[in-house]
Amino acid sequence: MRLRLATERLVLRDWTEDDVEPFAAMNADPDVMRYIGDGLPRTVRQTREAVELMMRRWDEQGWGTFAVELAETREFVGFAALAVPAFLPEILPAVEVGWRIERRRWGQGLAPEAARAVMGFAFDELGLDRVVSCIHPQNAASIRVAEKLGMTLERETVVPVREVPCSVYERRA
Ligand SMILES: CC(C)(COP(=O)(O)OP(=O)(O)OC[C@H]1O[C@@H](n2cnc3c(N)ncnc32)[C@H](O)[C@@H]1OP(=O)(O)O)[C@@H](O)C(=O)NCCC(=O)NCCS
Repeated sequence: MRLRLATERLVLRDWTEDDVEPFAAMNADPDVMRYIGDGLPRTVRQTREAVELMMRRWDEQGWGTFAVELAETREFVGFAALAVPAFLPEILPAVEVGWRIERRRWGQGLAPEAARAVMGFAFDELGLDRVVSCIHPQNAASIRVAEKLGMTLERETVVPVREVPCSVYERRA
């Protein structure tokens, strides 16, 4: 990638091999994965494949999902995503902003801080005029993050492949 975004407490950067271990530990936590995809924890192999896919997206598109680390200690804490929500064809074309933070660091405002930077990048650097976030309606913490980012509810729908409910939040530039 070669692109870095800095916030008050965080650095958003490209993925490295060293991220696989802490990212896999985060993705193995049922509390973290409850409202994501099929709601199941991920194996190390699935996490490794996800990292490879994110790296590929950066190479192909020139943008994508950022690994997030603490500026002070350089510890990996999660990700701030920018991706096409292909799982929800009815809202395409669209670009989704997403967030995932390891359990022990919840409640410190890290997700909105990282996502705000990604949203700025999407509007200012990529020139997008809208971003969306697809959130399980019971995922109250994530809905709160969307609200903090100034996003509003655009529609309630269902993800067809999984038949799970999804609230689509959006924000225009
Ligand atoms: C969603 C997530 C990224 C939030 O990250 P975070 O860094 O803890 O975000 P915040 O510190 O802003 O805290 C979340 C907010 O939700 C609120 N919240 C948390 N749990 C809540 C609940 N069960 N009901 C209502 N509000 C809740 C918190 O009080 C906080 O709001 P506040 O600052 O106004 O008090 C984090 O919980 C996470 O990684 N979850 C698992 C992955 C996930 O679901 N990602 C989103 C997929 S759409």
